Amino acid sequence: MCGIVGYTGHREAYPVVLKGLKRLEYRGYDSSGVALLNGGLKVYKKKGKVAEMEDAVVGKDLHSHIGIGHTRWATHGEPSDRNAHPHLSQSGDIAMIHNGIIENYAKIKTELVSKGYTFKSDTDTEVLLNFIDDIKKNNECSLEEAVRIALRRIVGAYCILLIHKDDPETIIAARKGSPLVIGIGKGEHFLASDASPIIEYTKEVVYVNDYEIAIVKPDELILKNLGNDKQTPFITKLDMELAAIEKGGYDHFMLKEIFEQPQTIFDCLRGRLDADKGTITMSGIEKYAEQIIQAGRIIIIACGTSWHAGLVAEYIIEELCRIPVEVEYASEFRYRNPIVNKGDVIIAISQSGETADTLVAIENAKEKGAIILGIVNVVGSSIARLSHAGAYTHAGPEIGVASTKAFTGQLAVLMMVALKLAQVKQTITAERYTSLCKELAEVPDKVADILKLDEHIQKLAEKYKDATDCLFLGRGYNFPIALEGALKLKEISYIHAEGYPAAEMKHGPIALVDEHLPVVFVATKDSYHEKVVSNMQEIKARKGKVIAVITEGDTVSPTLADDIIVLPPADEIIAPLLTTIPLQLLAYHIGIAKGYDVDKPRNLAKSVTVE
Ligand code: F6R
Repeated sequence: MCGIVGYTGHREAYPVVLKGLKRLEYRGYDSSGVALLNGGLKVYKKKGKVAEMEDAVVGKDLHSHIGIGHTRWATHGEPSDRNAHPHLSQSGDIAMIHNGIIENYAKIKTELVSKGYTFKSDTDTEVLLNFIDDIKKNNECSLEEAVRIALRRIVGAYCILLIHKDDPETIIAARKGSPLVIGIGKGEHFLASDASPIIEYTKEVVYVNDYEIAIVKPDELILKNLGNDKQTPFITKLDMELAAIEKGGYDHFMLKEIFEQPQTIFDCLRGRLDADKGTITMSGIEKYAEQIIQAGRIIIIACGTSWHAGLVAEYIIEELCRIPVEVEYASEFRYRNPIVNKGDVIIAISQSGETADTLVAIENAKEKGAIILGIVNVVGSSIARLSHAGAYTHAGPEIGVASTKAFTGQLAVLMMVALKLAQVKQTITAERYTSLCKELAEVPDKVADILKLDEHIQKLAEKYKDATDCLFLGRGYNFPIALEGALKLKEISYIHAEGYPAAEMKHGPIALVDEHLPVVFVATKDSYHEKVVSNMQEIKARKGKVIAVITEGDTVSPTLADDIIVLPPADEIIAPLLTTIPLQLLAYHIGIAKGYDVDKPRNLAKSVTVE
């Protein structure tokens, strides 16, 4: 949430910062802005997407070798030019950008107002900035020292970047709870919320830790903690290619990412699953396998789409491993005083690895002695680093705001985890284990086949795009997929959509059914199939429009459904990896048919680093 970029070095800063902002725009697009140093601090900012700021600066003198830029997801104050970052301190000496929330800003603002400060924006950021400037002036200290003193009083989350009008070389940066990566070049440094603005220039990066301050000059990077002790920067090599963050000929990142899934699922399984030998190698999980089995229960913590992956995992782990699983919304778990004991096992699922609620929930659980296993996509992210062990999903950068390939990566990892634990615990027969391993290995090819239905699904999208509401129903392993299908549709097309267990529909939502309501059934062949078909009958009896996702060879559902999407057969445990694909395409095409920006749906942002 909010993207930040900084550059100091021999290049012109503006083009580097601008390109970086475009790469980070998925993190928020309410406004954007840059601050440059060219005969004084120059701040240019504009409500709306980065392109609007870019248009607004045409003709301006943008020469500068230092710069910071911000793309905003509004928290304090409406999206507007006034509330856009960077902010300038009242003295005009310092420009600052911020990702996060300062929780005690109101108290600090009152103090500053009593000293005569006035504010141009409604943001917590401007308060922190003037607080820092005030400390600097009162203590006659360096900007670095003022930042350190200020941050000791701050409650909340932040990644901040500051530049001072009298220092054309130095960016002061600090983080707590919001990510910061620093790229190390020759005579230059790049700062950003994630590595995507950096990989074009260097693969050597430092992930800044919470409570660290970075003093960044073209030739020097110093890291210190809030106690002013120097920290050794840990340099990591990025394992990411530029092509992975470009559209590669697709109209939208979302479509590219949907179509990448045969490869990303393959990458996720590669080196772990050997279907011929019947082995699954997951060192992070294996190390804790005995403890997981002994723990007596597993708690899964996640948000949004990742929470849906957790629900699928609950069904699979309980079925295959006979270990009780609880799936918790991170935002609830962190505040509701849950019972967590030493040795409890928590699986945190997160694409970004930066979701604030998930991060804090596992921090709290870790303090109580729980073992944290992270299922994360972004390498080196906060959740990955906080976890004792885990497994990366290897889906590559996911830029479309709606999660697609990261979700199937999570499912693939969780299925391997379940199979591994079942094998260790001996709750699965050798035949079933071997057969599920084989089926899992076949998923990339099956997903490739399903993607050939794209044109058919596009036609369905045209047919149903004017619906105002939509129900998604499924049972068993496909129930979480119904939830995920509904979430995808509502976030991309703004059609009100609900996911429900198919049988639960009778207890309320059936009241919505009339001839205008499309009802998507996730109704592939599984143990519940006949029951789902009965639910389909109930919808048809009330004239609802049925779109059924079914398995090849199903002769009954086509007689009931208005439209069908036919998938290759799969074991019911593997099915969620397949059934989610057509629902992603349906949401995408309906969003496009309605003329929406599917990569940047309104009000949303990727990587929710505020609670
Ligand atoms: C929906 C979506 C969100 C995320 C949620 C958690 O398409 O992307 O619901 O799944 O914000 O994010 P991560 O997985 O990064 O923790």
